[in-house]
Amino acid sequence: MNLSLNKVLSLRGDIKIPSDKSLSHRAVMFNSIANGDAKISNFLMGEDCLSTIDVLQKLGVKIKVEGSTVYTYGKGINDLSKPKDILYVGNSGTTIRLMSGILAGRDFDSTLDGDSSIRKRPMKRIIKPLSMMGANISALNNNENAPINFSGGKLSDLNYELPVASAQLKSALILAGLRSNGKVIIKEKDVSRDHTERLLMGMGANINKTGLQIEISPSELQSNDLVIPGDISSAAFWMVAGSIHSDAELNILNVGINETRAGIISVLDRMGANLEFNNKVQYSGEPACDIAVKSSKLKGTTISGKEIPLLIDEIPIIALAAVFAEGETRITDAKELRYKESDRISLTVDWMRKAGADIEELDDGMIINGTYNINGGYFSSHGDHRLAMTLGIASLVSEKTIKIENPDAANVSYPNFWETLNTIGN
Ligand code: S3P
Repeated sequence: MNLSLNKVLSLRGDIKIPSDKSLSHRAVMFNSIANGDAKISNFLMGEDCLSTIDVLQKLGVKIKVEGSTVYTYGKGINDLSKPKDILYVGNSGTTIRLMSGILAGRDFDSTLDGDSSIRKRPMKRIIKPLSMMGANISALNNNENAPINFSGGKLSDLNYELPVASAQLKSALILAGLRSNGKVIIKEKDVSRDHTERLLMGMGANINKTGLQIEISPSELQSNDLVIPGDISSAAFWMVAGSIHSDAELNILNVGINETRAGIISVLDRMGANLEFNNKVQYSGEPACDIAVKSSKLKGTTISGKEIPLLIDEIPIIALAAVFAEGETRITDAKELRYKESDRISLTVDWMRKAGADIEELDDGMIINGTYNINGGYFSSHGDHRLAMTLGIASLVSEKTIKIENPDAANVSYPNFWETLNTIGN
């Protein structure tokens, strides 16, 4: 399917963004391996999180879905059952990597697999340390690519420095650590999103965190009712839309602003965006607020080093902001972006260059010079939800029609993105 979209004169409205994807995955996974029942409110019914529910059900967990509420009937940390089928994660990196930590070293065999994008993504980063703990795991291409097969083993000590700042890797090792016979110590390369530690500690896990070091001891989990806030990675599209459009006043409701996710806010602040934060609340230990955004005159900035993991998923939409900012924006240390649902460095540079932007590709990022202009054109999402939505936002300010191939890719994290885009544009 294709979608043709044109520039709008103004952007107005209150926007209810979808629930946080990272938190929704974790809420249902952790409660499934906890003791007791739980109610998870405001769960993200996007394709990725539905894949997680499906995988857990195939492992014998009873899960009931009613609207956006999910009820889990926890099996306890050790009592998952052998699945009859391959565990299919669709497009979801979080599902395959976190479930690897849950499935490693169990007394039954299982296989995790996913779509063509998942099969290209690096898995050795999780398989290597889980194997060092004692799990028997094998995968294609010298343990780099899914499908991943798990066949028992006994989990013991691990003392490991993470080679990449990845919350998925960190979480897989923490989850395996909960069932290990020994002490698991991991050291993060840089701070990455900390939802796993926060949620698990709230469920009684023995986790000690000091700076970048995390120590995990064998633990049972107690189920916990959770309320999921809105996803800042989804809000990012509207923060940028409101900032770059010349006549915008948007109010984005209930955005999770955990500081390990909020790099986009610091960047837009530096760029001179007009953002206001109202109605601050806490949901299950996670801070949230409404974000009001108005048109602004942006200027370029530099994004690198420790800031990258705090905004890794937002770089495609930040690149669009940079086109509408004065001067140069330089993004480096972001090579991880090449290993996401698509190679987001190469595909972002490619479509933006075709649309007339002044953009240079770097091995680990990109340099953009603001030209305040996106020409129209026909671009593919390449099945990547964040590229599909970036193209959607670009259409709001583009000189000519933007035609998008496979806009439905957005459903992975934002099922009603296109409806919202239609409603707020006039
Ligand atoms: C996620 C972690 C990040 C992020 C992904 C979600 C998570 O991936 O890009 O969209 O929920 O833990 P990495 O761990 O590969 O950096």
